[in-house]
Amino acid sequence: MAGGSGSRLMPITAGTSKQLLPIYDKPMIFYPLSVLMLAGIRDVLIIAAPESMSAMRGLLGDGAHLGINITYAEQSEPRGIADAYIIGAGHVGNDRSALILGDNLFHGAGFQDLLREAREKADGCTLFGYPVADPERYAVADTDAHGNLIGIEEKPTRPASKNAITGLYFYDSDVVEMARGIHPSHRGELEITDVNRLYLEARSARLVQLGRGFTWLDAGTFRSLLDASQYVQVLMDRQGVRVACVEEIALRMGFIGAEQCHELGLAMGNSGYGRYVCDVAKSLA
Ligand code: DAU
Repeated sequence: MAGGSGSRLMPITAGTSKQLLPIYDKPMIFYPLSVLMLAGIRDVLIIAAPESMSAMRGLLGDGAHLGINITYAEQSEPRGIADAYIIGAGHVGNDRSALILGDNLFHGAGFQDLLREAREKADGCTLFGYPVADPERYAVADTDAHGNLIGIEEKPTRPASKNAITGLYFYDSDVVEMARGIHPSHRGELEITDVNRLYLEARSARLVQLGRGFTWLDAGTFRSLLDASQYVQVLMDRQGVRVACVEEIALRMGFIGAEQCHELGLAMGNSGYGRYVCDVAKSLA
C-alpha cells in the first residue's frame, strides 16, 4: 500500500511520493517489497496515488527482472488502508494474501521463518506486535496473560499496552468481504484496524510477537526517515551487508539466477549498491 498524501513530509513529498524517497541507499518501497519477497510472495499489487504511478512503474516495472509479477492500481484519494482490499479485490480473488504498508521497515533474525509460518496459515489473520515507546501513534494490541490477542484499538489516547500492531498483515480469503463490511471511521478512512477487529470477533486473529531484539521502523516523519536511513547505514558499515537489497533477495530466494543478478548490478553502473549486487551475484554463482 503505497498511496496516501505524505502530508507529514511536505514539502519533500510535494513533487514525489513518500514511498519513493530514499532510505539511505534505496527507495523506501524496496523495504516492504523485500518483506513480501522473503515471505515467498511473487505476485504483488502496488497501490499508489495517480500522480506517482508512472514513477513507480519506472522504478519497478512488471517485476520480471526480480522474477516476480508486479501490477499496479491507483488509489485516487487516501480513503484508508483497508481500501487496499476494495481496490485489490479482483487481484486477490479467492486467494490468501498479505498487505504491507509502503513506509514500514522490518529487520531481524528469524524473520523469514515467521513470514513463512504466517503465509502457511490457512485461516484467519496474522498480525505482528512490536513494543514501542509511543504506542498512541499506532494500533495497539491488548493481550491476555498467555499473549493471546483480546483487543485492538487504533491510536488510543490511553493505550492498553506498549505493543503496537505493525503495518504487515496476512489474511485468509475472507478479507475482501470483511473490508466491504466496515464503514469509514471518524477520520473518514477505512481502517485496517476495523478489519482486524472483525477477525478478532470471529476468534481468528493471531498476534505474532516481534521481540525487542527485532527492528521495526516506519518512515512517516522527518525524524523517522532520518532514523531509518541511519539504521540501514550503520548495519551496512558494520556488517558489509545491505538491508532490503531486492536483487540479492530475488537471487537468494531462487527467483532469478546469478547471471541475471549480475546484469542487474552492472546496469546500476558505478554506484556502491550496483557493485554490491555484482559481488553478491559472483559469490553465489
Ligand atoms: O505503521 C503501522 C500503523 O500504520 C498501524 O499501527 C496502524 O494501525 C495503521 O492505521 C497505520 O497507521 P498510520 O498512522 O501510520 O497510517 P497512515 O495513514 O500514515 O498510513 C500508513 C501508510 O499507508 C502510508 O505510508 C500511506 C499508506 N496509505 C494510507 C492511507 C490512509 C495509503 O496508501 N492509502 C491510504 O488511504
